[in-house]
Amino acid sequence: MTSELKGKTIVVIGATGQVAQPLATKLSEHNTVIGAARFRDASRRSSLEEAGVRCVEIDLATGDVGNLPSEPDLVLNFAVAKSNDWTNDLDAGVGGTLAIMEQVQGAGALLHCSSTAVYKPMGHHVFAEDAPLGDNHGVWEFLRTYSTAKIAAEAAARYGSTRFNLPTTIARLSVPYGDGGGWPAVHLEMLRNGSAIPVHTRSPSTYHPLHDEDIFAVVPGLLGAAVVGGTTVNWGGKDAVSIEEWCSYLGELTGLEVAFAPTDQTIDSVQVDLTKLHSLVGESQVGWKDGFRRMVEARRPELLKG
Ligand SMILES: NC(=O)c1ccc[n+]([C@@H]2O[C@H](COP(=O)([O-])OP(=O)(O)OC[C@H]3O[C@@H](n4cnc5c(N)ncnc54)[C@H](OP(=O)(O)O)[C@@H]3O)[C@@H](O)[C@H]2O)c1
Repeated sequence: MTSELKGKTIVVIGATGQVAQPLATKLSEHNTVIGAARFRDASRRSSLEEAGVRCVEIDLATGDVGNLPSEPDLVLNFAVAKSNDWTNDLDAGVGGTLAIMEQVQGAGALLHCSSTAVYKPMGHHVFAEDAPLGDNHGVWEFLRTYSTAKIAAEAAARYGSTRFNLPTTIARLSVPYGDGGGWPAVHLEMLRNGSAIPVHTRSPSTYHPLHDEDIFAVVPGLLGAAVVGGTTVNWGGKDAVSIEEWCSYLGELTGLEVAFAPTDQTIDSVQVDLTKLHSLVGESQVGWKDGFRRMVEARRPELLKG
């Protein structure tokens, strides 16, 4: 639980992001949190500062990370560059990860957030951590750099861990969501607009949605598992749930009509083996239906039936 992290100095990189902003905010209740990003959206900086997070500017694409402390207790790297420019996104992912690690090398441990988007598309294969890697998201032109840059950043994190003697965990996140948003929240908006939801023709399109609360809960355990050289672990909710199932449930909750648009021009299923995650930190606690209902309640309460 986050309550296990108290009185620490924790650096959260990518603090304005979907996943890291609520995490940094929650951690700042009992810790000194330094949030780092470029702060392209000033309102996000203000929200973090109001929550007590000290904000420092960095730029991972240029390696400008001198504002980070050199000996924080812990570092959480949730930054990702999605400009769709190969040079920028690879430089931010690879060079940026190494620049962070060099700068904070006196830290006790680092959690590097990766993605299950690193796995080679293989239909309904259940991916363990040693499964083949590939250009999972390349099918989406607007995210053409994503999988490649995430794979490359993992290698940088492993190298940096050894080079700087910095215990590191690389956690491959599936589908994070919560009151602040996420892919299921995008689907909710699409249903609201009457858009058909793209799903892969190899149905169903299955992932492991993970609620923000479960993300907070296991951060201490993931940091505790960090080793020099890096340990890699899949990171998702215990239930494998398909887009077809979760959109149908959003339809049940709201009465919105649900239509799917099967295509091979969208990402394939990425179902993962969570044996290692469960041995390290246990299973997620927020049931997906409960989490989805809470998400609708927080974001679009007027849509909830009854
Ligand atoms: N969201 C998902 O569905 C999902 C799924 C699987 C894995 N993940 C992983 O989870 C982590 C967090 O994802 P997210 O969706 O929360 O990301 P996000 O919302 O896109 O946020 C990305 C963060 O990185 C920062 N950033 C981008 N370029 C930067 C640069 N050049 N220098 C410094 N900071 C930079 C952004 O802040 P500024 O723009 O202000 O600099 C922002 O704080 C990532 O590792 C991602 O790959 C996410």
